[in-house]
Amino acid sequence: MKIAIDGPAGAGKSAAAKAIAKKLGFIYVDTGALYRGIGLYVLRKGAKPSSIEEVVPLLAEIKIEMRHTDGEQHIFLNGEDVSGLIRTESVSAAASDVSAIPAVRDFLFDMQRDIAEKNNVVMDGRDIGTVVLPDAELKLFLTAKPEVRARRRVLQLAEKGIEANYDDVLADVIQRDYNDSHRDFRPLKLAEDGIMMDNTEIPLEETIEKIISLVKERMA
Ligand code: DC
Repeated sequence: MKIAIDGPAGAGKSAAAKAIAKKLGFIYVDTGALYRGIGLYVLRKGAKPSSIEEVVPLLAEIKIEMRHTDGEQHIFLNGEDVSGLIRTESVSAAASDVSAIPAVRDFLFDMQRDIAEKNNVVMDGRDIGTVVLPDAELKLFLTAKPEVRARRRVLQLAEKGIEANYDDVLADVIQRDYNDSHRDFRPLKLAEDGIMMDNTEIPLEETIEKIISLVKERMA
């Protein structure tokens, strides 16, 4: 079974997908981490993440791997576990930039398909229901108002001991939404047969419960 969860940054996709995967014994696949891995490599090389000319030649040097241990996904970039290093704000912006390049999306496509062929997955990203898993049994589009997503992001960072300014985080969230939804190639959008879930006014736990009951309906 394949469950696709798409939506903008900070909508609670990863928290929801993780909880659902745990409850159902599925593998949680965070596809954003793959784009982040490429973003990190490009930054390390001193290249410009939005430049097709600079990024595309680097793809031949990159080996990205996803490994799952104890339900946790780890991302390896040329053999190095970069799971922690890809969570910075600069890598977030670089990931959004490189993700607009068609060659980057093609580079990561087979890997995402392959893991879904071999496992029951809950996969989160931006184009999962529309492009990567058009055959998913359940396609969700999880969203919330930018202000709510920015507030959650500030809290998440605070939990990690990182102090962030709400206005800066809100500006980043809005900029990344714009980039991800307006790129020409495979932008973030609701799948034709996708279900829109706005959790601005609803606690995430409730949304998760609702998704689990939808999955159970589809499995029956
Ligand atoms: O989900 P995330 O914030 O970790 O994703 C980082 C960036 O990667 C996001 O700004 C857009 C891009 N992305 C994408 O284009 N397609 C995906 N399936 C997942 C992420």
